Amino acid sequence: MNAAIRAITRAAIEKGIRVKAIQKGYKGLIAGEIKEFQSHDVSNIIQQGGTKLKSSRSSEFHTPEGRAKAYQVIKNEEIDALVVLGGDGTFKGAEIFSKEYNLPVVGVPCTIDNDLYGTDYTIGYDTALNTIVQAVDKIRDTASSHERLFIVEVMGRDAGFLALNSAIAVGAEGAVIPERKTHLEQMKEFIRHGFRESKNSSIVIVAESKSSNGTYDIVEQLQKDCPEYDPKVTILGHIQRGGSPTAFDRILASRLGAAAVTALISDKQFVMVGVINDKIVYVPFVEATKKKKDIDNSLLDVLKILSK
Ligand code: F6P
Repeated sequence: MNAAIRAITRAAIEKGIRVKAIQKGYKGLIAGEIKEFQSHDVSNIIQQGGTKLKSSRSSEFHTPEGRAKAYQVIKNEEIDALVVLGGDGTFKGAEIFSKEYNLPVVGVPCTIDNDLYGTDYTIGYDTALNTIVQAVDKIRDTASSHERLFIVEVMGRDAGFLALNSAIAVGAEGAVIPERKTHLEQMKEFIRHGFRESKNSSIVIVAESKSSNGTYDIVEQLQKDCPEYDPKVTILGHIQRGGSPTAFDRILASRLGAAAVTALISDKQFVMVGVINDKIVYVPFVEATKKKKDIDNSLLDVLKILSK
């Protein structure tokens, strides 16, 4: 996100546009936590994880009263247009707000989940993916030395992009993703892929699930049905959301941040900037938030073939 903040700030200043940085998202907007940024304010942040602007979840912005307060701040600060950075929730809020007050808004897709329709990649996804790969490579050392089964849970909210692609990248024996149902039989098949002939360990990547006990339920079922396996569980958790961004993410964020400014200058409003086939695209908010980005079946095939 910092690389995007830097790009938006500098691209706007270069075009003679003043930049006001809103701290802590919609919550900070309502509270008027705003500071004008100069080019030097975004120096030395491209390599930093997290966000210089900080982030928060705002229940007040969900209410018409909260949004009215936010608009008052926008007027007081003489803000003509907003660039919002975030995922699905941020864009849904932006869509309602921009329609209510006819305020030009452009969105920059920032989420490790990569689940936004209209862009091949979201900012943060590649960094999270690489963090998972580094962690699971380390787990594999123990898995193969001790001939063990590991079930590794990764983030993604309702989406399996991180789980499926990390599974391919670490040579996992299988992936359990919310977009496709995985039956116990299939799970056992994944595990067997690891314990045969030359192979002697098994790693299954499981996408986090909405159910309270998600991954632990799967493991409990496995222990009941096939006690011969002694699965170890690793929940990677928030390690996936931090750290210095990869070069891919820095470049993506720089391109999308600059494109957001171009969009506003050329009167493109109520859109998310994205990248499809390496080209910048502008996607209406309604599409980005309502349409579902699906998993590519060929990736599932690749994982299946290569894990055997
Ligand atoms: O949407 C991004 C994400 O990292 C999800 O993958 C995860 O479920 C969630 O956010 C974690 O959010 P929080 O840090 O608020 O628990």
